[in-house]
Amino acid sequence: MRASGTVIFLLNGTACTIDFHESTPYTPTTTVLQFLRSHPQLQGTKEGCAEGDCGACTVVIASLNQQSELVVEACDSCLIFLPMLHRKALITVEHIGTPEHLHPVQKAMVDHDGSQCGYCTPGFVMSLYALHHNHPESESSREVAEDALTGNLCRCTGYRSILDAALQVHDQASMTPNDQKQTIQGLQSLQSYPLSIVSQHQKYFQPHDLQEAVKLRSMYPEAVMISGATDVALKVTKNDEVLEEIIDLSSVKPLKELKITDHYIYLGAGLSLEQVKRTVEDLLPALYETLKVFGSLQIRNLATIGGNIASASPIGDTAPILMAYDAQVELVGPQSTRLVPMREFITGYRETSMQKDEMILGFNIPIPNTQTHVKWYKISKRKDLDISTVSGGFRLELEQDATVSHISLFYGGMAAMTKNASKTEASLLGKPWSREQVELSMDIIDQDFTPISDARAEAGGRRIMARNLLLKFWTDTHA
Ligand SMILES: Cc1cc2nc3c(=O)[nH]c(=O)nc-3n(C[C@H](O)[C@H](O)[C@H](O)COP(=O)(O)OP(=O)(O)OC[C@H]3O[C@@H](n4cnc5c(N)ncnc54)[C@H](O)[C@@H]3O)c2cc1C
Ligand code: FES
Ligand code: FES
Repeated sequence: MRASGTVIFLLNGTACTIDFHESTPYTPTTTVLQFLRSHPQLQGTKEGCAEGDCGACTVVIASLNQQSELVVEACDSCLIFLPMLHRKALITVEHIGTPEHLHPVQKAMVDHDGSQCGYCTPGFVMSLYALHHNHPESESSREVAEDALTGNLCRCTGYRSILDAALQVHDQASMTPNDQKQTIQGLQSLQSYPLSIVSQHQKYFQPHDLQEAVKLRSMYPEAVMISGATDVALKVTKNDEVLEEIIDLSSVKPLKELKITDHYIYLGAGLSLEQVKRTVEDLLPALYETLKVFGSLQIRNLATIGGNIASASPIGDTAPILMAYDAQVELVGPQSTRLVPMREFITGYRETSMQKDEMILGFNIPIPNTQTHVKWYKISKRKDLDISTVSGGFRLELEQDATVSHISLFYGGMAAMTKNASKTEASLLGKPWSREQVELSMDIIDQDFTPISDARAEAGGRRIMARNLLLKFWTDTHA
């Protein structure tokens, strides 16, 4: 399949092409928000923070999954590079209703006084549009509506009236069957080819197959790989970096693989965190709990599990819990694939054992038996849309007499990388899982970590949090 430098997508139902080889005002790292704001007729989409925190820029992206079904997702347009729209449909607030014929979600906002200054309103409306497409059932619960709106901030109206609006529209579909049919047909009509954009200052590749992706990785070892770009986009929008070489992995199908056996779940690195969340609710409940408070729905629709682990952030949320589950990382390079235990994968502050010519293919996660306790805890200043100050991914196995036969205590936010409290673990192994013993071991956590003070917490505060998480783990697991 010949690669091309022309991005093609549906813009509010009409095919739109951008040829980066021609003279165009856009670069491969122009964000979808910047693109929309450059068109006077598409300025309903607003810019607030340009870093995924406020939702003013929310748009809906529709695409076809591997079963050719329509997937409709609310996303922050400030975090999406233009080529990431390739072969997708972009739906903006201008498309869904008119002042004479408001869309049901717009009408609900009016009926419930859900808008005052109106700056946040287009973003809320697009989140509601996706919510009602994905939850058309008449009982779309308050919890589902709250989750769909955690990524949208409003500074003046207050959330009660907006939530009331969200719950009013339950019986009306967001897209009519005809709209859906046309969108599917429109998407199917877009030509399929990988992207190879070489502009004056940048190269941007979007391969379709794994072999090609691995080849590009070897050819451009300094290139920045992106999957959801929720981390990488900030380099551009916040730090004004020019990313000279980019390999966009978001269209590589093997990275989206999902396999469930009796003993393992295999998650492709390119699965979005929202897809992972939906998959693991019953099988890996602690990972599900992690993802329930990860960013916002707009972030989870873009962000991938591979991107979260590869970024090797000391406060990345999925690392402690994947370590507690004893997951393995599957890496692929030019010669072969190899498995690395998750607990050995992260080697330092934002460093991993991945070679320059490798990428993460996926994760093998053993499904624990019913006697194994796995829990995840996050302490942050807010429940939603906040990064961890301290987090913990813990695992416990007990003998019949309630002595500890296995314990793993992986902490985030306590060191330059996700790290286990090895001395504390040793102090608990073979001992009774009792409050007295846990309280003795809580003192040992100080020997395991020398946390830093930063804007989120003082070192002393972090130590107290780490101890108390262990006590909470005992409270949640003792018989
Ligand atoms: C508003 C906001 C809220 C956030 N909230 C949270 C939160 O609650 N918890 C949290 O942990 N993080 C949070 N993040 C950080 C970010 O969303 C996550 O780290 C996310 O999982 C990154 O995934 P991505 O696909 O977007 O990565 P990208 O930005 O595409 O890439 C991140 C890094 O991973 C590398 N990479 C991507 N895919 C692969 C692969 N297959 N193989 C090898 N390397 C790869 C890239 O080269 C890059 O170095 C938040 C970010 C924002 C903007
Ligand atoms: S502008 Fe705030 S989330 Fe995009
Ligand atoms: S209506 Fe003013 S910020 Fe929401």
